[in-house]
Amino acid sequence: MDIRKLELDEKPPMDLLLLADPSQKMVEEYINRGECFVAEIDRKIIGVYVLLPTKSDTVELVNIAVGEEHHGKGIGKKLVMDAIQTAKKIGYKIMEVGTGNSSIGQLALYQKCGFRISSVDIDYFIRHYPEEIMENGIQCRDMIRLSQHL
Ligand code: COA
Repeated sequence: MDIRKLELDEKPPMDLLLLADPSQKMVEEYINRGECFVAEIDRKIIGVYVLLPTKSDTVELVNIAVGEEHHGKGIGKKLVMDAIQTAKKIGYKIMEVGTGNSSIGQLALYQKCGFRISSVDIDYFIRHYPEEIMENGIQCRDMIRLSQHL
């Protein structure tokens, strides 16, 4: 598997990006301001992540997704670790990521990659998404924000 930066003239893999964020409008908005990286197997894009600078020393991992048929093989963890290394090389000091209170697997993944919970944005998903989101039998209401020093 290779991980590389998406070239400016290439189309971002919207099908994958929408797995992580159901709002196409929000994805299109941050994809234009951030940097998109893709994972490929035999030249087929199977994973993606997006880094978005938020403050001078801080970058946010705003989207990360792996094609459903490739889940559970360690690719998500490789992408998060690659994002951390890339951000470190650029010179960022802090990386942030946010996920829903119902995203049990994602909370496990981020903590296994060194992130710690820094805050909770109560009712974030109620305020920003018109439809109810259910995952693991839990309503997604609150944004759990995690961060780590690089
Ligand atoms: N409970 C405990 N641990 C879990 C878990 C759960 N429900 N789900 C995943 N994990 C752990 C795995 O065990 C693994 O840890 P390990 O290496 O110690 O075994 C780790 O999380 C990562 O697993 P990995 O195989 O690398 O993840 P993946 O390739 O399936 O990718 C996502 C993870 C989140 C990127 C993938 O599920 C995805 O694309 N989901 C849809 C998009 C999405 O939700 N993006 C994140 C938005 S916040």
